[in-house]
Amino acid sequence: MVRVTPFLLVLSLALVAQGLSDRKSPPLQCTLTGLWINDLGSNMTIGDLNRKGEFAGSYHTAVTATTNEIQVSPLQGSQHRTNQKSQPTFGFTVNWKFSDSITVFTGQCFVDDEGKEVLKTMWLLRSRVDNIKDDWKATRVGINIFTPLHSHKE
Ligand code: BTN
Repeated sequence: MVRVTPFLLVLSLALVAQGLSDRKSPPLQCTLTGLWINDLGSNMTIGDLNRKGEFAGSYHTAVTATTNEIQVSPLQGSQHRTNQKSQPTFGFTVNWKFSDSITVFTGQCFVDDEGKEVLKTMWLLRSRVDNIKDDWKATRVGINIFTPLHSHKE
């Protein structure tokens, strides 16, 4: 009896430890809908997704490749597999209202190590050129990282 008790104690501790380590961590949910700001200081608002994962929104860029006055511009995009994946890939296009350019963004919505949502994106900005000979210099490429703006939707 004297020997059995410590054995049972160790066994029960091991079972409790096993039980704790077997507990599944909750899925990492990252939601596109809401207000975002990127590393250039640009803001965007993404509306609710429809059943197909499509969304619309608006983009207020902080910078421009033109000398034109910046205006808030519409965006349209879609997210991959709305229900099945918790850190979804997505893409959207911004049709700039104050220039002849178009930007396409592609990216993924992540939850970082501190539990904060972040959008890691790459973009292509196509500017209009007058002559086909200038086509080679008409596309810029870059990355942007977006983080939620205070009133971001949960
Ligand atoms: C233009 O200059 O013709 C339109 C505005 C382009 C703004 C670009 S899009 C990629 C990058 N990320 C931003 O937030 N703004 C710039």
